[in-house]
Amino acid sequence: MPKFEKHIFICTNERKDGDPRGCCKSRGSEKIREFFKDEVKRRGLKGKVRANAAGCLDHCERGPVVVVYPEGVWYHVENETDAREILDRHIEGGEVEDRLAIYK
Ligand code: FES
Repeated sequence: MPKFEKHIFICTNERKDGDPRGCCKSRGSEKIREFFKDEVKRRGLKGKVRANAAGCLDHCERGPVVVVYPEGVWYHVENETDAREILDRHIEGGEVEDRLAIYK
């Protein structure tokens, strides 16, 4: 069983329409999760980096929300361009992507 160097948790929680907090799924987080998974594989990072769906991370208003461990950096990720930046800069580059970080 591999010991991952980094975990990318992507909230894919869904709430009913009209919920005042909204949810990450309604803002496209499933597509973002798929993109992270595909890119981890395409970049040859499988076994070192794991992209997982997560339940609600309780920052719904800022969704879609992504957290990268072990650094514990929280990101707001709207699309594939944002996800690509996190992969380039944080996952492969080892630096926080300041433009998208919520908490670091
Ligand atoms: S629904 Fe994603 S953080 Fe709550």
